[in-house]
This record gives sequence, C-alpha cells and structure tokens, in this order.
Amino acid sequence: MPGKWGLHTFYSKDRKIRRLLPKTKVLSKASLRKLIKRYGSVYIKPNMEHMGKGIMKAVKTSKKYKLVRVNKGKHKFSNVQKLIRKVKKITRNKPYIIQKTIPLAHYRGRSYDIRVMMMRNKQDKWTYIGMLAKVMGPSSIISNIRRGGGYAITVGQALKKSVAPAARKRKKLKRKLIKTSYRICKRFNRYKYSSQIGIDYAVDKRGRLWLIEVNFDFPSHGLFARLPDKSIYRLIKRTRAKYLKAKGRR
Ligand SMILES: Nc1ncnc2c1ncn2[C@@H]1O[C@H](COP(=O)(O)OP(=O)(O)O)[C@@H](O)[C@H]1O
Ligand SMILES: [Mg+2]
Repeated sequence: MPGKWGLHTFYSKDRKIRRLLPKTKVLSKASLRKLIKRYGSVYIKPNMEHMGKGIMKAVKTSKKYKLVRVNKGKHKFSNVQKLIRKVKKITRNKPYIIQKTIPLAHYRGRSYDIRVMMMRNKQDKWTYIGMLAKVMGPSSIISNIRRGGGYAITVGQALKKSVAPAARKRKKLKRKLIKTSYRICKRFNRYKYSSQIGIDYAVDKRGRLWLIEVNFDFPSHGLFARLPDKSIYRLIKRTRAKYLKAKGRR
C-alpha cells in the first residue's frame, strides 16, 4: 500500500528511523479500540490525503470519548462503541491510519512541530537547506498553516521557549534533526527518486524527537516565506533553479 502506511512500513525497516516513529496501525475497529485504550489519545488520518485534510483526533477522558475533526467541530460519546460507530461512518471504506498522539511541546501555549527542508543540489546530492517551526492555530489539531490557521517561527525560538532553554541543548537537537534528515533522504532513494523532501518532526514535552511525515515531490516552498527572515526561502529558490538547470544538461 502506498500513502502514509506505505511510508511508515518502509521507514520501520531502518533500525534508527524506526525509533522515531510513533506506534501506528491501519485503522480498524480493533486497532481503534486497542490504541485508544492504551494511549488515551490517537490521531486518525486518511492514508492518501495531505495538508491536514480529513485528520481526526480521538481522546478518552475519565467519563467519555471525544472526537475532534479538522475544521469540522467536535463530538462526544458516552462509550467506545459509539465512538467507533461514528469513526466508521466518517471513514466509510477508505483506508486510514491510526497513530498514538505525541504530546507535542508548546510555544506560548500552542503545540508546534518542525519542518526540515532537504533538496538535491546541482551535483544531484542531498543537502540540508533549512528548518522552521509550525505553531498550531487556536484550538487546532494540525500544524498545517493554511488549513490549521497557525504561523511559522524559527526552530531556535520554539526550542528556547519550550524544551531547550539552554543553547547547548538546542544545538544538539538541531544537529540531530539534520543528521536524521540526511539518513531519511538517503533511505528514500530506495522508495523512489525525489529531488526535494520536506520532513515533519515533532518534539515532545520531554524533548524527544519523533518523525511525523516525509513529504516528497512537492514540499511547500512558500512555508519558508512566512519567516520574517527570507534567507532560507531564497536559498530554496536558488537551489531549485540550479538543480533544474544542471538536470537539463545531464
Ligand atoms: N501522532 C501525532 N501526534 C501529534 N500530532 C500529530 C500526529 N500526527 C499528526 N499530527 C499533527 O497533524 C499534522 C498533520 O499530520 P500529517 O501526518 O503531517 O498529515 P498531512 O499529510 O495531512 O500533513 C502534523 O503536522 C502534526 O501537527
Ligand atoms: Mg504533514
């Protein structure tokens, strides 16, 4: 199966990347029942969609179950059967995945995650271009800025105000993000050829790193234009132009 599940199983085969993947299954009545019981909170995502479309979050509290849908409001249920029935009705027979909710670190009271941009240069070699933090919009469950209403800041700002007030720790986390991104791109060559990859990571409240998604083919460039400092955005455009020019000659 391609899509999110395909990428998940593909990256589970790498011993180092596997450690960064949150527990994930194909959505079924059984997996929903099991994961919500075990983790108390799960993300349910359409296997083939992007940009936050169709994502849901199910949460178990002491008395009830809640289901939050992106831009579609909330539902409450008195028991798990009712939650399952509703999810089944929404998802019909389309493939979805279900995943443990990562307790995302917060910046000024809002969850955020991290996008790392990797591109092939004119020598066709993967290179690290830049990173940013996507802060979620008010009461949103996704960090996709256009659909979720959030905003972008630098990773330094986000880490400083959350899990890494010390400069040394920030540096270490950023180094790990870059190193891991090279590994992800190298491995991706076996999946298919791509010339630009945007990788979504989460940092949890304890400062642990998780891999959320690998966006290939058309990762957003415009996202980086949202930072006040346009240097990464300009580097993206420059790198792309040089890559395409060199490719024309190859
Ligand atoms: N397991 C999770 N725990 C916490 N937040 C998540 C989880 N999965 C997704 N999210 C949030 O939802 C956003 C969209 O999920 P993602 O898997 O990237 O789907 P899409 O392809 O629609 O962008 C992520 O960027 C992140 O902010
Ligand atoms: Mg995404």
